[in-house]
Amino acid sequence: MEDIFTNRRSIRRFQDRPIDPNTLSEVLEAARMAPSWGNLQCWELVIVQAAADKKKLAELLSAKNPASKCMESAPVVIAVCGNPLKSGYYKEQQVTRYQHWFMYDLGLISENICLKACALGLGSVIVGSFDHKAAEELLHIPAGCELVSLLPVGYPDHAPAPPKRRALSDFVHYDRYTAS
Ligand SMILES: Cc1cc2nc3c(=O)[nH]c(=O)nc-3n(C[C@H](O)[C@H](O)[C@H](O)COP(=O)(O)O)c2cc1C
Repeated sequence: MEDIFTNRRSIRRFQDRPIDPNTLSEVLEAARMAPSWGNLQCWELVIVQAAADKKKLAELLSAKNPASKCMESAPVVIAVCGNPLKSGYYKEQQVTRYQHWFMYDLGLISENICLKACALGLGSVIVGSFDHKAAEELLHIPAGCELVSLLPVGYPDHAPAPPKRRALSDFVHYDRYTAS
């Protein structure tokens, strides 16, 4: 198997080439299989393909965001949304010290999307910095659901060098946490 874990990169330039519906379905099937708190699957995905909508989304990123241009040029942008009061809650009561387990679940579904996209020769980037409120309004996200990230997906038009990763010895601790 190709090492999608090593080869996946954040892609911020895309070819002017559509994604055929079957390929997109494969990516979405992989998304569907992500693990989640209590298998509650708190997520909702909005598939944005209209040029005018992608342009409006692009305007909601700061010009300094390295993903601002590709928001418009990607053939598909997946808006990753979720209900913040399902994961980690039981009968509407928070049951662990953390309030935001939905973010964890949305991270997992996002990673499934990015890895499957990579396996199919597509590129993607997770975008978390933009005007969330305006994007929610644009995409008609209802109350009780929050738009967390935008994932432009398409055929890569560049091959970025891998950014540095920490060495395992720097963050893996055996038996007990040991300060380095
Ligand atoms: C939660 C999250 C939010 C991110 N937000 C942005 C963003 O707003 N703009 C952007 O260009 N990249 C964004 N990224 C991509 C990271 O910059 C990228 O994953 C990191 O630099 C490592 O590079 P790699 O994905 O190629 O391994 C985000 C990644 C994550 C996980």
